Amino acid sequence: MTYLRVVRDFLPPDELAAMRGAIVAQSHRFKPVGAKGGMNLPYSVLNGRELREHFPALAAFAAGPMLAVAQELAGEPLKLMDDRKRDMRLQWYRGKHEGFRWHLDGGLYGALLTVTNDNDGGTEMLTPRQSRWLWPVPYVLYPFPRILELAGPTPIPAGTGDLVVIRGGDIIHRGVIRKDCGDRILLAASFDPVGRVRPRAWDALARWLNY
Ligand SMILES: [Fe+2]
Repeated sequence: MTYLRVVRDFLPPDELAAMRGAIVAQSHRFKPVGAKGGMNLPYSVLNGRELREHFPALAAFAAGPMLAVAQELAGEPLKLMDDRKRDMRLQWYRGKHEGFRWHLDGGLYGALLTVTNDNDGGTEMLTPRQSRWLWPVPYVLYPFPRILELAGPTPIPAGTGDLVVIRGGDIIHRGVIRKDCGDRILLAASFDPVGRVRPRAWDALARWLNY
């Protein structure tokens, strides 16, 4: 199973700087996501509908070049996840208390473009084998993330400008921030194989945990 691809310098520095400038200029549009009673960590988000309205160029980038790379990894035709609020978004993390606990994604494939990473943030994953055995664990043990740390997470090396595509519907992963100063901003998109029908209960849980 091909489950991960990292494309270095997916966006050249000048385009990346322009993207960062546009996002920071509209930072007031981000909404805080709460900790949900210990089930997740806080962060800030700008959802798919807002992204299309206020950042049409970024929405086109997610639906175009980012989708193309995900499709190459998948080896089959993909489409944006069937949910215009969650299929693409901007995520903003500030400080070690923020992040995203161990989870599986709602969409089968996720693409993450790192727009800024000044706080040594990153994505960590379990191996496909560990994920297969442990997939019920992130939900059952959400308040006890240390138990999954014992499985030995693998950090995905990705710096500013890099694109990570992960089969996040099958691979347990999380977002961590390692420094208290600085920002990590991601442009994220979720894709599914054309014609895939997603289980509803799973979807409802993912919606509740996200925003
Ligand atoms: Fe994810």
